[in-house]
Amino acid sequence: MKSKASAPGKVILFGEHFVVYGVKAILCAINKRVTVTAEKIEGEKISIKSNIGNLVLEPNKPVSEINSPLKPFYYLANKMLQSQNQTTGIEIIVESDIPIGVGLGSSSACCVAGAAAISRLFVETPKEEILKLAIAAEKTIFQNTSGADCTVCTYGGIMEYDKKNGFTKIKSEPDFHLVIANSNIKHSTESVVAGVKQFKEENEVEFSNLCNDESKLVEDVLKLLNNNSIKELGQKIIQNQVYLETIGVSNEKLRNMIQVGQKSSFGAKITGAGGGGCIFSLTDESNLEHSINQFKDKNYECFSVKIDFKGLDTF
Ligand code: MEV
Repeated sequence: MKSKASAPGKVILFGEHFVVYGVKAILCAINKRVTVTAEKIEGEKISIKSNIGNLVLEPNKPVSEINSPLKPFYYLANKMLQSQNQTTGIEIIVESDIPIGVGLGSSSACCVAGAAAISRLFVETPKEEILKLAIAAEKTIFQNTSGADCTVCTYGGIMEYDKKNGFTKIKSEPDFHLVIANSNIKHSTESVVAGVKQFKEENEVEFSNLCNDESKLVEDVLKLLNNNSIKELGQKIIQNQVYLETIGVSNEKLRNMIQVGQKSSFGAKITGAGGGGCIFSLTDESNLEHSINQFKDKNYECFSVKIDFKGLDTF
């Protein structure tokens, strides 16, 4: 029997980094997906195949000793074998159309789709349990995750999230397009988050003021989303980028890309950890093509996405 699941990637619209310190963030799932297929196989082994490489290991190895980006899948498979008292082998196949390591939630989508496909080989697992498994799996590669990314990859749509209260779906379904431009600079979320921690420790008062400013901005955005006020949302995106510049997660290439985005759309900013990765520009039908063409003219890799309202899907 095969168990298959797919989960969307994500964009953080507002509040990355500040969310780690308790500020509310706004995220949306995007229409790019990871699909994971899990199957019981003969022999006591966990075999993972993906387009970034393969990993084959026997069960019961300490996860801390595994040095592979595929570690979360091993963790999930091993955990299910242990909790279900099973000695079968598991084969996991990962297919993805989300660019890897650039802030679009590819690892969270892998953890969510992986948790669903692997756990459902053994037991029917409700979404809340899948999310818990996925966050635990993500912690094997990024201990300090806020959990925001896995949450939006599980439930889809657009949501507000804070560490204390978890997520609340935002009811309005805004009809915007995002143009994602990829700097093709790989980043480690963990080390960019560590850099922000250092900024905070060296600038406690400034960081606390920035957290207050970001909180206020997010509250304003929630009102604007209800009214579908796209131009005003663009202004908030531009303001959020100022805060991200201040905490040091931008760089020259990202700034150049953001300038292209801000000139050709309603607003543009980094999404996710920064330090590399992607930026997005906010568009509607009136300026979507224009924004794409402006990025392409400057030889930046880009593509457009819409909100995915489905979230985790199982087959
Ligand atoms: C990474 O996509 C988002 C960060 O805010 C980290 C996190 O929330 O876990 C930078």
